Amino acid sequence: MNICVIGAGYVGLITSVAFAKMGNDVICVEKDINKVDSLNNSVPTIYEEGLNDLLIECIEKESISFTNKLEDSVKKSDIVFIAVGTPSLDNGEVDMSQVHKCINEISKSINRYTIIVNKSTVPVGSQKYVKDILIKNGVPCDKFDVVSNPEFLREGKALYDVFYGDKIVIGCESQKSRNIMNLLYKPFNIPIIFTNPETAEIIKYTSNAFLSTKISFINEVANLCNKVGADVDTVALALGLDKRISPEFLKPGIGYGGSCFPKDTLGLISIGKKYDCPFEIVKSAVSVNNKQRVIPVDILLNEYNDIKDKTITLLGLTFKSGTDDIRESPSLYIIEELLKRGAKINAYDPMVSDEIKEIYPNINYFGSMNGSILGSECIIICTDWEEFKGLDLDFVKDNTKEAFIIDGRNMLSLDEAKKRNIKYYSIGKGY
Ligand code: NAD
Ligand code: UGA
Repeated sequence: MNICVIGAGYVGLITSVAFAKMGNDVICVEKDINKVDSLNNSVPTIYEEGLNDLLIECIEKESISFTNKLEDSVKKSDIVFIAVGTPSLDNGEVDMSQVHKCINEISKSINRYTIIVNKSTVPVGSQKYVKDILIKNGVPCDKFDVVSNPEFLREGKALYDVFYGDKIVIGCESQKSRNIMNLLYKPFNIPIIFTNPETAEIIKYTSNAFLSTKISFINEVANLCNKVGADVDTVALALGLDKRISPEFLKPGIGYGGSCFPKDTLGLISIGKKYDCPFEIVKSAVSVNNKQRVIPVDILLNEYNDIKDKTITLLGLTFKSGTDDIRESPSLYIIEELLKRGAKINAYDPMVSDEIKEIYPNINYFGSMNGSILGSECIIICTDWEEFKGLDLDFVKDNTKEAFIIDGRNMLSLDEAKKRNIKYYSIGKGY
């Protein structure tokens, strides 16, 4: 099939290479010309395991190309996927302006039956919203169908999720669009749930909100474990063995970040408000997360009262391991709190991007973990990079001003730290 994907971000780019790999002809439209040039030269614009090789393969086979020309690309396509950003507005509502702009442009180019797919995460009612814009712009009703096909990939495991995910959700109105979407997705051999657009839209928000709530729940359990001498990992293990609970997403830490959980929880709360369904449970998950992500600063202030001019090392800046994405990373909130109190910050992240260096030019960035901890007063582990499990505790003992670690991702062992007289705080595994 001829596929057009609009937006070459985390979702658009992965979706594009996946459809190209499955034998479709894909044009990915991206408004940022630097990204277009880079991708046409087989250089990925994001870090994602396996993406580089797959991109090279698809470009060599000429099954994928990148352009900033939306009009021509839509004209050539049977299906157009919208994969642009839907960030939060200041009041928590979903900002649909990028989607709206795309639809206005698409409207000018539809010259035969085309399926328009909402792949971006958009609030319930968006399929109708898109349809209404197309009709208002004069596109005849028999020339299109609008389908809701939310994405469930995780950054860092994106290609695995696209090829081996648990489910594909497709919300459509007509049998014609259902048949075509079925043809496109059948080769993936993943269970497909066909439903109406509203149901598909709700599935996406509630998946993210449920997972966020699960994380906030285990984080509250972890905070209790620290107070009473219990071990949160054992609690999580036992909870997870109950099949009704499942062991996934029970890893405590300094809260969830990323471009989706924070925005989609707020999004669901704002959708709920519109329909008089207040989602108190999701509000609580958000408020627990807001406190959880700055717990290391609370611990520091308990220890020192004043942290002005103290050198604090942050290990990890990305919102989780396996990605170069720093959007809504808990480490950004910690940085803000530390800078506000006059602390000096050293930082090391194996995937650190230029983006963060531009936002925080006054942080000292290091190319190695050991380099970043030399002479520091406290080390805060913010991201679960595997490398941090190998932190040399003897080196910490001998080369930091105060042997003091706040392990925001439970990467190290309390016993090993104690053996060396290192002051060590975990999230629910003691201190
Ligand atoms: P992103 O910001 O990484 O990428 C969006 C891209 O779209 C950008 O490169 C931007 O330049 C481009 N763009 C915007 N308007 C355009 C236009 N008119 N024409 C061409 N290009 C345009 O965003 P993302 O992380 O890929 O997320 C996209 C959507 O998918 C969001 O709704 C998000 O909630 C959802 N989602 C994201 C993930 C994830 O892991 N990142 C997973 C599932 C769903
Ligand atoms: C999440 C969902 O897992 C995807 O299904 C969804 O498609 C995506 O959001 C989206 O809509 O964008 P992602 O944000 O890439 O994917 O990452 P996750 O692995 O879900 O982690 C999110 C955050 O939760 C991270 O900060 C991570 O450190 C944290 N987390 C995760 C925990 O603190 N504990 C856990 O047990 C799991």
